[in-house]
Amino acid sequence: MYLVGSDKKMDYVNGPGRNHLFVPGPVNIPDQVIRAMSRNNEDYRSPAIPALTKTLLEDVKKIFKTTSGTPFLFPTTGTGAWESALTNTLSPGDRIVSFLIGQFSLLWIDQQQRLNFNVDVVESEWGQGANLDALASKLAEDRAHTIKAICIVHNETATGVTNNLATVRKILNQYNHPALFLVDGVSSICALDFRMDEWGVDVALTGSQKALSLPTGIGIVCASPKALEASKSAKSVRVFFDWKDYLKFYKMGTYWPYTPSIQLLYGLRAALDLLFEEGLDNVIARHNRLATATRLAVDAWGLKNCTQKEEWHSDTVTAVVVPEYIDSSEIVRSAWKRYNLSLGLGLNKVAGKVFRIGHLGNLNELQLLGCLGGVEMVLKDVGYPVKLGSGVAAAATYLQNTTPLIPSRI
Ligand SMILES: Cc1ncc(COP(=O)(O)O)c(C=O)c1O
Repeated sequence: MYLVGSDKKMDYVNGPGRNHLFVPGPVNIPDQVIRAMSRNNEDYRSPAIPALTKTLLEDVKKIFKTTSGTPFLFPTTGTGAWESALTNTLSPGDRIVSFLIGQFSLLWIDQQQRLNFNVDVVESEWGQGANLDALASKLAEDRAHTIKAICIVHNETATGVTNNLATVRKILNQYNHPALFLVDGVSSICALDFRMDEWGVDVALTGSQKALSLPTGIGIVCASPKALEASKSAKSVRVFFDWKDYLKFYKMGTYWPYTPSIQLLYGLRAALDLLFEEGLDNVIARHNRLATATRLAVDAWGLKNCTQKEEWHSDTVTAVVVPEYIDSSEIVRSAWKRYNLSLGLGLNKVAGKVFRIGHLGNLNELQLLGCLGGVEMVLKDVGYPVKLGSGVAAAATYLQNTTPLIPSRI
């Protein structure tokens, strides 16, 4: 319970029943993780925390699908992880290519510009993926290798667009171009297929509050050997996010240059255990199943997906375009006020035009059906002529045919 509004009314956010949290991060935290975090502070210089950290650093590599990468657990959010990736590998004035396809790629580009990099912005209409033909042309022209890095958001959370990272690597290889490949995996890693080593990603990053299903507060950055090498000569000023300080403490076996959140470390341990118990491939398949069901519901409602082509469809978030006579913010407001359902707002260029259903992290089929049922009621509330049950039926039909047995109950 907490106080909201000018008249300071109580809001029973957790009761009766559950808040249906369907924003694309922060997401639902598993009970096991909540329990694992419910503990006292500890001396992080005792042997226990370095021992725990060692297991976390080893295991976190698995979510990036890397054996050669070096992970860093920063007490930060995705935005801090962006800054760490950029300032450790690049120098002011360096030329980089960055793709603008929605609000989060826009914010990363803004950060790149404020850090004084020379950014070639490749813009696409919101709802489209990164223009990789433009990347090919730029690399073909750049025989002198003036481009030092390619920055791309794997999954643009504002529009529900997933970019094809394997193709980016293919293009870099085709032109034998040495640019660093920096990837924002904030709303993809632990939910979508992500292969750091296979795709030759040099820096990948994510935030704990997305598919890892933890509270906000850990920015995970993973650097390839090439990125670590680049960090030795990169001249950008960095202090809090400097990989060098972490590496020094890794060598000493104490791991932390400053105080970590003990509770989040235990939470991360529990979150990784749950992911591995389910199996990363099963986690990815579950995200695909829930996303497909959501897209079928959107079709059944007669509404459009903001994502313009199937190849870009995101399995973590669906941005739904509403008819012009409806303000999508009203849908989000009404869902929260009436049904205790939290949906994502449309951001910036698509504000008022789309609402977003986040289907990532700690979620299952029946939770999703609850959300879709809620969306239908809200659509009716705001005057859209939806047939109640139509989207739920389409999604349930698909889920009934595709949901596997729970392994431990076979
Ligand atoms: C793709 C993407 N990148 C970066 C961010 C920024 O992360 P944070 O809000 O944790 O700083 C977000 C946040 O939603 C995101 O979706």
